[in-house]
Amino acid sequence: MYNNDNKTASLLEVDNLRIEFPTRRGVLTAIDGVSMNIRAGEILGVVGESGAGKSLTGTAITGLLERPGRIAGGEIRFNGQRIDNLAAEPMRRLRGKQIGSIFQDPLTSLNPLYTVGRQLIETIRTHTDLTPRQARARAIEMLKEVGIPAPEQRIDQYPHQFSGGMRQRVVIALALCVNPKLVIADEPTTALDVSVQAQIISLLQRLCRDHGSAVMLVTHDMGVIAETCDRVAVMYAGRLVEIGPVQDVVKRARHPYTRGLMGSIPKLGEEVEYLTQIDGAMPRLSHIPQGCAFNPRCPHATARCREEKPPLDGIGAGQVACWLWEGRSQDTDAGELFAEAALRRREPARENSGEDNVKKHVAACEQGVAS
Ligand SMILES: Nc1ncnc2c1ncn2[C@@H]1O[C@H](COP(=O)(O)OP(=O)(O)OP(=O)(O)O)[C@@H](O)[C@H]1O
Ligand code: SF4
Ligand SMILES: [Mg+2]
Repeated sequence: MYNNDNKTASLLEVDNLRIEFPTRRGVLTAIDGVSMNIRAGEILGVVGESGAGKSLTGTAITGLLERPGRIAGGEIRFNGQRIDNLAAEPMRRLRGKQIGSIFQDPLTSLNPLYTVGRQLIETIRTHTDLTPRQARARAIEMLKEVGIPAPEQRIDQYPHQFSGGMRQRVVIALALCVNPKLVIADEPTTALDVSVQAQIISLLQRLCRDHGSAVMLVTHDMGVIAETCDRVAVMYAGRLVEIGPVQDVVKRARHPYTRGLMGSIPKLGEEVEYLTQIDGAMPRLSHIPQGCAFNPRCPHATARCREEKPPLDGIGAGQVACWLWEGRSQDTDAGELFAEAALRRREPARENSGEDNVKKHVAACEQGVAS
C-alpha cells in the first residue's frame, strides 16, 4: 500500500487494517482497509470529521480496542514485529514502555486516588531498573520538563489539585517518562483553553524532538496540523482517503474531501485558501455508500464513483484515493483538475468548450466564485 522506502524506515506500520462491530443487524465495518506508517521521530497528523475512525485506529494500535469491536483483517507492526495479535500481557508491557498514549480527557489516564508522583514513579519503576529514589528524581525532572512549576512540591499532590492544562501536562509526563518510541495523542488539547493548547502542542513537539519519539497526533485543528506535523493522514468513513507531507496536503490538497476539510485553515506561510464547503454529513456505519464513500457529498462524483471504490494510489510523495486522480502525475494541478471536473459537470453537452473555457473556470475558481 505504501512505497517501500517508507516501509523500511517505518517504526509503525498499519497494513490494510479492518475493524468490525458485530451487531444483531449484521457486521458493521468501522475501519475499512486502512494502511499508514509512521517513521521514527516523525509527527503524523490524523484528521477527519467526527466518526471518521481516527480514535479506533489509535486504540487498535495501542491494543485498547474494546469488545465487541474486533480487528477483522490486516496487520499492525511495531519495529517490524506484529503486535495486532499480541497477548494481553506482552501488549501491556509494550504499551507502558514503548507506546505511550495521551487522550483528550487527562482524568481517564490519571488515578484520582494516587498522587501524581506515585503514578509517575510506579510507571518509571515498572519499565526501568531505577531505584525508588532515582525514579522520584526522574519524575521531578519530567514534571519540570513539561512545565509544572515547583515540581518538588507538586509531585506529592493529587490530580484534582491541578488545573486542566496542568493535568494534561502530567499526562504527557506520564506518557513520556519512559521515553516511548511512539506516542498516540488523541485530541490531547481539545478540552483546553486556546492559549494552553498552543503550549501543550509545542511542548509535545519539543519533547518528541528531544526524546526522538514518533507521534500520531489526532486532532480536528487544522492549524495545529499545519504547524506541527510532518505528514498528514485524512480519514473518511473508516477509510484513508489521502496521506502525504503536510505542505502538500494543506497547500495542495488532492482529495475533494481534504480540500473541503482544509477550507478554513490558517495559511501555511502562503496565500492558500480553499473556498470549498462540504455539505452533508459523515454516513453512519450502517449506511456507508457503495463505491467511494464520499460520493454523495462530492461535487465531482460520477457514475463510476457510485459503483467502484477508488484505491489509494501513490502520487508524488503522497497517496490519494479518488478516481479523478487516476493516471495523473504529481505535476497535475489540483485546482485545474477540479475546475475541469466542475466544467464537465456543469456543461456536459457543450461542444468545443476548449481550453479557454477551462482556463476561465480555473480563474473563476481561484477568485472563489465557483467550487
Ligand atoms: N463501541 C462501538 N460500537 C459501535 N460503533 C463504534 C464503537 N466505537 C466506535 N464506533 C463507530 O466507529 C466509527 C469511528 O469511530 P471513532 O471513535 O474512531 O471516530 P473518530 O474519528 O475518532 O471521531 P471523533 O472525532 O468524534 O472522535 C464511528 O462511526 C463510531 O460510531
Ligand atoms: S472518487 Fe469520485 S466521489 Fe470520490 S472523491 Fe473522487 S471524484 Fe469524488
Ligand atoms: Mg475520536
